[in-house]
Amino acid sequence: MGTTGTLGTEPSTGPSTGPAGPGQVEPQQVCVVGAGYVGLTAAAGLAELGHAVRCVESNPGRLATLAGGGIPIHEPGLDELVAKHLGTGRLSFTGDIEAAMDGAEVALLCVGTPPRPDGDPDLRQLGRAAAQAAAAATRDVVLVVKSTVPPGSCEALELLAAGHARPGVRASVASNPEFLREGQAMRDFFFPDRVVVGVDDPALEPVVAGLYPKEWPLLVCDRRSAELVKYASNTFLAVKISFANEVAALCEALGADHSKVLTGVGLDGRIGGDFLKPGPGFGGSCLPKDLSGFIAVAGSMGQEATLARAVREVNDGSRASLVGKLEAALGPLSGKRVGVLGLAFKPGTDDVRHSPALGLVEDLVALGASVQAHDPVASVPSLGDGQVDDPYEAASGADAVVVVTAWPEYGDLDPGRLQRCMEGHVVLDAVNLLDAAAFGAAGLDVYGVGRGHPLSVAPVLWRPLEWMIDAEPTVSLDEAGPEDVDVLAGR
Ligand code: UGA
Repeated sequence: MGTTGTLGTEPSTGPSTGPAGPGQVEPQQVCVVGAGYVGLTAAAGLAELGHAVRCVESNPGRLATLAGGGIPIHEPGLDELVAKHLGTGRLSFTGDIEAAMDGAEVALLCVGTPPRPDGDPDLRQLGRAAAQAAAAATRDVVLVVKSTVPPGSCEALELLAAGHARPGVRASVASNPEFLREGQAMRDFFFPDRVVVGVDDPALEPVVAGLYPKEWPLLVCDRRSAELVKYASNTFLAVKISFANEVAALCEALGADHSKVLTGVGLDGRIGGDFLKPGPGFGGSCLPKDLSGFIAVAGSMGQEATLARAVREVNDGSRASLVGKLEAALGPLSGKRVGVLGLAFKPGTDDVRHSPALGLVEDLVALGASVQAHDPVASVPSLGDGQVDDPYEAASGADAVVVVTAWPEYGDLDPGRLQRCMEGHVVLDAVNLLDAAAFGAAGLDVYGVGRGHPLSVAPVLWRPLEWMIDAEPTVSLDEAGPEDVDVLAGR
């Protein structure tokens, strides 16, 4: 550990609930290392707040796109902000870290921490970024880690940075994890639920917290705690989604309605309704990676992370259950033609990393089915001719159509036209987007997630119910315990 004055103590500033949105800051000279999702949104957002931001990108293709006024990712609102601040001069892009760090007081490290095959995060890009930024610093600088990292990383990065900084220059490291959601990153930037600042040296707090308006909800803590807030938050979101999927599976069996059940659950203020939407399982570059990271960190500390492991299993099962439903409806999938609507891991993004849709495509192909897929934004070159430009073309001649990504345009599909395109009549709505009645009226058989299909609902066979209805008690009901079930049921 570095200075541990704040470890284990109450945060010096608890979360407050003031109004968020663009606000006032003391402008700082900021270098952002990495122009991916996190770096670009942070760079554009900080420029909008009033800071002078230089963003360094080492990938020449990406840099050329940015320098030409283009945006290499699909993120609503980002292009306007970038264009605006290229214009105001508060934002610039460069491949030269020396130029970007010249005079910078703060450097935000926003490079990738992709999972390695064993599930551990690969922190090499981050190490390089910290070393290069420290070496290029011309004054004392705070390296702010925005990338998601396992607890302990900031301390290790500080040792690394100290070894590269020029004599007389101090490179400190702070944690400031990112909570943006792809597809609504700019909104999340300006209206954060919380800004978490992890510092072990209290003198760094005003520098890092001062990047953001003081009205924003702020939690200041030690670096390990800040790092763990991010892992634990994404793990808890994964828990909620997997719980919703488990409840949805039970709803299907019982013929109960997931939307009512989970709404009823979420209306409890202690639980909350967000992230209780069942579907094909969670995907993306963050929840699966951070869940694995959480499990790995726990393992490194000798803990089992039993709940997190179970969540991973439930999530794998959610995707497998889609294949099971198709098999139940169509029989063996070999030789069947399936139209897959949606490839992005969620609507509003072109990101297909760990996308449940791509996983489903792989499963279907492995089982001998042929797949025609469509997505309004995401493109998957490896699908070749298997990706088409129109959802009706994806449905053409299909035995079944599966909606895997909840793009709003799929909700507007014309059921009659879809039915005429298809060979079969099975529609699996894995995101509960379609108007099942309208599709049913067009002759299509719509299976959702968490809704009992009339054919799938089994009678409830459970001994306590039988006992309640049929039993001729030989012991008094008042005195009976669970061990008396057989006696009461006459067995
Ligand atoms: C997630 C977190 O929500 C962000 O707070 C965090 O900053 C980000 O990871 C990150 O670590 O960078 P993101 O991966 O963009 O954001 O996407 P989410 O909106 O969280 O969705 C993740 C997955 O869960 C998607 O596959 C989505 O379809 C699924 N999901 C979400 C459900 O299946 N049900 C829900 O109710 C909500």
